[in-house]
Amino acid sequence: MTIMRYKHSMRILGIESSADDSGVALIEASGAFGKDFHFKVLANEVASQHHAEYGGIFPNVAKNEHIKNLPLLLEKALLNDEKPDVIAVTVGPGLAPCLWAGITFAQKLAQKWNVPVVAVNHLEGHIVMSMMKDAALAAIEYPVLALLISGGNTQLVLSREPFRYEIIGKTRDDAAGEAFDKVGRMLGVPYPGGAELSRLAAQARAEGLVADFKLPRPMLHEDNYEFSFSGLKTAALRIVEKAGNVSDELRKRMARELEESIADVLVSKTLRAVEAYGVTTVVTGGGVAANTFIRAQLEAALSQAGVALLVCPPQLSTDNGLMIALPGYFHALQKDFADPMTLRANPDLVLGEKE
Ligand code: KG4
Repeated sequence: MTIMRYKHSMRILGIESSADDSGVALIEASGAFGKDFHFKVLANEVASQHHAEYGGIFPNVAKNEHIKNLPLLLEKALLNDEKPDVIAVTVGPGLAPCLWAGITFAQKLAQKWNVPVVAVNHLEGHIVMSMMKDAALAAIEYPVLALLISGGNTQLVLSREPFRYEIIGKTRDDAAGEAFDKVGRMLGVPYPGGAELSRLAAQARAEGLVADFKLPRPMLHEDNYEFSFSGLKTAALRIVEKAGNVSDELRKRMARELEESIADVLVSKTLRAVEAYGVTTVVTGGGVAANTFIRAQLEAALSQAGVALLVCPPQLSTDNGLMIALPGYFHALQKDFADPMTLRANPDLVLGEKE
């Protein structure tokens, strides 16, 4: 089996289906990590599902959407019907039925094209995605600290060397994105509420609307790297119940206060870890990293501490195939291939563990 079609480059097909976004991307990449790595995005097709009417993701509905979407995205992504050299697919963490949709799709393609498959951890995808800049690697000094903030995860991950991860802290209950989504629901904002709450918070700031109540900053002063966001929805609910109804003004004030509470906690825990581990580069990724206010707060605090912050463009912070194709390339370079027929979905896959 020939793995490389060109002498110095590889074409990787990335497949993502861990939650409610289906993604298929094709990249051409060459070089080694930290040396002469370059890549070209040939395609990055995403189909976002709309689960607003359910107030959350229904795994089996999402699975069927993935099964329908993935072949359509592939058709758009494959230029001249050429087969890629490697297929990279998300195997976890995520919703089992959704992960299986991508895995089954990858298995069929691997068989049809007779090409190797690489299993990718979705969270590694967010990290590697944020390290890429202008089609090359950003200058990166290790150790690197990654702040992963999405709808399903909130973690601080230490990487002492490329592609090695240690989770140093995570949420004990809800993820940061979940806090946005749950409070959003309470305020009558369609699921997922993060982006809309962020827009409302910005409006509140522009109009000088400050909350006349305070949400907690959970675990802010605890000397660890753990998070807990479930208390925010309880505190928000108490305020909404007391108000009796949700006025436009309350919605904006709450959005602002919630965003500021989440930002305060994320920034302070990140700074604590930066200091403790002597980190000079922080990477952030996941849907909540698309939040402009949180990005700006992180950027300001870290730059004051002389630490670089790497993020990717907001539209690449949410789930897509490119973030799977990129780590897929590096795993393929290390010949870290999986047997396509024994691939399994691993909904609880942890960073640093074998896929
Ligand atoms: O990474 P992602 O696309 O999917 C997974 O959870 O894996 O993240 C989705 C989460 C949702 O909770 C959504 O509300 C949140 O990211 N989100 C945001 C913003 N954009 C998306 N939260 C705050 N501000 C945003 N601009």
